[in-house]
Amino acid sequence: MTFRILICDPLSEDGVKPLYEAEDVEIIDTPGMEFDVLKQKLANADAAIVRSQTTMTRELIEAAPNLKVIGRAGVGVDNIDLDAATENGVIVVNAPDGNTMSTAEHTMAMLMALARNIPQAYNLLRNGRWERKAMVGVELKDKTLGIIGLGRIGKEVARRAKGQRMDVIAYDPFLTKEKAEKIGIEYGGVEDVLKAADFLTVHTPLMKETHHLIDREALKLMKPSARVLNCARGGIIDEEALYEALKEKRIAGAALDVFENEPAVGHKLLELDEVIATPHLGASTVEAQENVAVDVSEDILHILRGGTAKHP
Ligand code: NAD
Ligand code: MLT
Repeated sequence: MTFRILICDPLSEDGVKPLYEAEDVEIIDTPGMEFDVLKQKLANADAAIVRSQTTMTRELIEAAPNLKVIGRAGVGVDNIDLDAATENGVIVVNAPDGNTMSTAEHTMAMLMALARNIPQAYNLLRNGRWERKAMVGVELKDKTLGIIGLGRIGKEVARRAKGQRMDVIAYDPFLTKEKAEKIGIEYGGVEDVLKAADFLTVHTPLMKETHHLIDREALKLMKPSARVLNCARGGIIDEEALYEALKEKRIAGAALDVFENEPAVGHKLLELDEVIATPHLGASTVEAQENVAVDVSEDILHILRGGTAKHP
């Protein structure tokens, strides 16, 4: 029996080697398909692999009678209609830890770039302006990093922030005072974290409960000198409320890797000098892309051959 696997988004070539080497697999590797083409190709597919560009809607899932498994080469499964998948007997697998390190490192890069105005200073310099006075930054040492969502990435960010001699306070529904003490950070409720943070970083999944978790009211609790980061998912921070808070100088800056609607080219937040941004690059390293592609490829093969997923 030959299984047809459709690759819908660009994936690491080395990472999908297990699929190319499998004798019982036919690969259709055509990332970036228009909706109608994707729908047509899905009609004959046994499995599909996506990253974050493709949204697996109910319409697509229902148009794929042979589909047994969708692999998400990454963490967030918010671009897959999970109800539709369950109702149609389609298993969804992801790669929960393959990109943890890269995303934590990206968050730290954004944190430092935000504190020291690195993108802004570079832009000025490229335009012939040797600006020093206007580009004065702040130190991280002894500042408080507030973390909302202390899962895989949040924990790695906490570890790195402590290395920068920052104080860390975090909220996560699964965090207790005792667990926090054990890893040398402070435990707080959401309000405590918001009030204490000089820098706030969110690392939760995007779901109903976390949509606009950082809204107007939340931003009002923060210090005017505070800066916020989102390297998790667009939609956790209310972009309209963030824009207002930045315009009104109620927040000092923001670093955004993700947006509610991507690609976010032309977004009004990008017009503000206090905002630095990257185009959803958290997991974009050679290592992370290879890891996540290997993990989903292996799981898909196991499932198609009648086994279960190996990655948690
Ligand atoms: P994880 O599942 O390991 O951690 C998420 C944590 O959020 C969990 O500990 C959970 O208890 C906590 N949480 C859930 N609801 C919460 C709430 N209401 N308030 C506070 N905490 C809450 O996930 P992870 O691997 O650490 O990923 C975190 C986020 O980063 C996800 O949204 C993921 O999609 C995103 N991500 C982005 C990139 C990128 O390229 N920018 C790369 C990887 C992951
Ligand atoms: C993820 O959830 O893993 C990220 O969005 C990474 C990605 O696929 O770009």
